[in-house]
Amino acid sequence: MANISKCTAANLKDAATSLRSGNLVAFPTETVYGLGADAINKSAIENLYKVKGRPKDHPLIVHISSMENIGRWARDVPEYAIRLARTFWPGSMTLILPRTNLAKNFITGSQDNVALRVPSHSLALSLIAEFEAQGGVGVAAPSANRFGKVSPTTAEAVYEELSDYLSLADLILDGGPCQVGVESTIINCTQSVPEILRPGALTIKLIYDQTGIEVNHSRNYSNQNKIKVPGSMQSHYAPKAKVFLSAKARPGDGFIALSNIETPAGAVRLANPRTNLEYARELYQALRSADNLQLTKVYVVPPIGNDIAIAVRDRLLRCAF
Ligand code: TXA
Ligand code: MG
Repeated sequence: MANISKCTAANLKDAATSLRSGNLVAFPTETVYGLGADAINKSAIENLYKVKGRPKDHPLIVHISSMENIGRWARDVPEYAIRLARTFWPGSMTLILPRTNLAKNFITGSQDNVALRVPSHSLALSLIAEFEAQGGVGVAAPSANRFGKVSPTTAEAVYEELSDYLSLADLILDGGPCQVGVESTIINCTQSVPEILRPGALTIKLIYDQTGIEVNHSRNYSNQNKIKVPGSMQSHYAPKAKVFLSAKARPGDGFIALSNIETPAGAVRLANPRTNLEYARELYQALRSADNLQLTKVYVVPPIGNDIAIAVRDRLLRCAF
């Protein structure tokens, strides 16, 4: 059990204090809801892994309030990473960088690098800033779902996922639905050329257009045996219902597609996004509603395009049969 509370200034302050005391706080970010814990508190992080049901060697993203704080967590930061941070933070971008001693094995899955992100959601930023004002140095926050399941994009979805595992001292902050809807773009900045480990709203093209920085795309990064990214394993982001990437829904099956694609006769329309941005925003809630409606199969027509559609297709490929 945990309480859902509104993000008033007083609640944010209490939530930051609670994080400092070693409790867990789920909070909204612009991408998905995160489950926060004090990134340097070993027992809080151990509890976080337990609540998520996540294997210990899968690392966590440390959320900070500003790029000024990069140097506390990361060393040998390449010039291109500074430019990326300057251009795209706060925002849905996570940078993997060589770690300092502050980033312990219990955060990094014993890897020599650390994942950092400055989210743009004003409530997330306020929470982290308040946490830092109270002496904290970073909030570790994976998506607030059980391992392998669909990331939550509302406070109610966090409650559905985790209320059985959270304790009464833990909190869920309600900031309404997330605007982006898919997790941040993860960029490996530990080598001479940056590399996308997980696609998100920030695409290679957007990065190039705004900075001139060329970023590679690493398709099977987890297979290269260098850095583990659980979000790049099969069977992630999965609802209970079986997901099929096709328009051939039968009566009683769930159906997700852009609004210009008609619902097959008798199928249950779970989302009707008009654009790829709306598709990303609505996808996880639509998959979740399939489970709530106890549907056993969902047919999904992936969006086309080289924008956020890349991230949506990536997640769909991982949860589909
Ligand atoms: O949008 C997001 O990134 C959300 C919000 C809450 O910020 N967070 C999120 O966290 O998606 P999580 O833990 O569900 O996914 C983070 C991914 C994992 O696949 C993890 O393995 C990878 O980032 N990661 C974390 N630290 C890493 C590191 N040091 N090296 C490589 N990958 C890392
Ligand atoms: Mg996740």
